[in-house]
Amino acid sequence: MAEILKFSEKSLEKAVNILKKGGVIAFPTETVYGLGANGLNPISVAKIYEIKNRPFFDPIILHIGRKEDIKKLWKEINERAEKLIEKFWPGPLTIVLPKTEIVPYIVTAGLDKVAIRMPSHFISLEILKRVDFPIAAPSANTFGRLSPTEAKHVEEQIGDKIELIIDGGKCPVGIESTVIDLTTDRNIILRPGGIPKEDIEKVIGEVEIIEKTEKISSPGQLPYHYSPKTPLKILKDYKEVKDGIKAALLAFKKPLYKEKFLKIEILSEKGDIREAASNFFSSLHKLDEEGLDIIYAEPVPEEGLGIAIMDRLKKAEIKKDKI
Ligand code: TXA
Ligand code: MG
Repeated sequence: MAEILKFSEKSLEKAVNILKKGGVIAFPTETVYGLGANGLNPISVAKIYEIKNRPFFDPIILHIGRKEDIKKLWKEINERAEKLIEKFWPGPLTIVLPKTEIVPYIVTAGLDKVAIRMPSHFISLEILKRVDFPIAAPSANTFGRLSPTEAKHVEEQIGDKIELIIDGGKCPVGIESTVIDLTTDRNIILRPGGIPKEDIEKVIGEVEIIEKTEKISSPGQLPYHYSPKTPLKILKDYKEVKDGIKAALLAFKKPLYKEKFLKIEILSEKGDIREAASNFFSSLHKLDEEGLDIIYAEPVPEEGLGIAIMDRLKKAEIKKDKI
């Protein structure tokens, strides 16, 4: 069971040590409790997904303790973002902009943009100031449950899966941050939250609220989930590989059969599902960039993170079938 410690020099040191070693902790922010890990370490981020027990991948917010950290994490910044940061950070506003290469694809679930916020809670800030990486943190609930606003909610849901919960009492805002996408010339709220739309509009003008959807139905709609451009097929039997086709293979373990593929990415040589998940989106990107006719993907065992991997593969396969 997780140790639950109140804010103190000792608990802070403990939290920071776990994070530096690649582990996961729960900590309070002003909105809700977060489940945090080193946001630049793909294996640590895979652990977060594992603990959340979600059957699919959803991109995760990077938390920073210094405004200048955005320079390492966002490839571009615009005037609207600058104005919002000036007005609302630190605080419950999360901004989505194009990511740099150091941000692992498992953080963004394969997207080329990353969500960042600087929380205002003194405990989150104190932890963030003591590490030299951003902390990737979704709300510390399990799949289908409410976001925790007290340490005991976290304990009930995931207390048996993490080492440490820092208890900062009730989260003062109590709802999640507002998530705004500024990657296009529109201002799009992907999730309403702690900062009202009207307050944002006073700073940058008109803002739209858009529900996330799987299918991209209108041209202006933002891709919310990553799918490769290259057609993808889940490969149940090597006999299905067509002759004369330029094919890539996304292999789970070391493949038994290599001849028919021009490019192969192996998710985990030793067949470790956590390692496979940590490499999944970056491997898919690499194969997609080759511009081949098809990507064949080996199925992975549908247990733990394998469920989320298979969900993404199945959705990528369905989407291409419809074209
Ligand atoms: O207040 C909060 O935002 C809390 C605290 C812990 O910071 N975090 C939180 O994280 O609520 P989570 O993972 O439960 O929700 C993050 C939301 C999700 O709806 C996710 O889809 C969206 O932000 N999101 C994260 N990264 C994104 C990205 N790169 N592009 C689009 N949406 C993103
Ligand atoms: Mg959540």
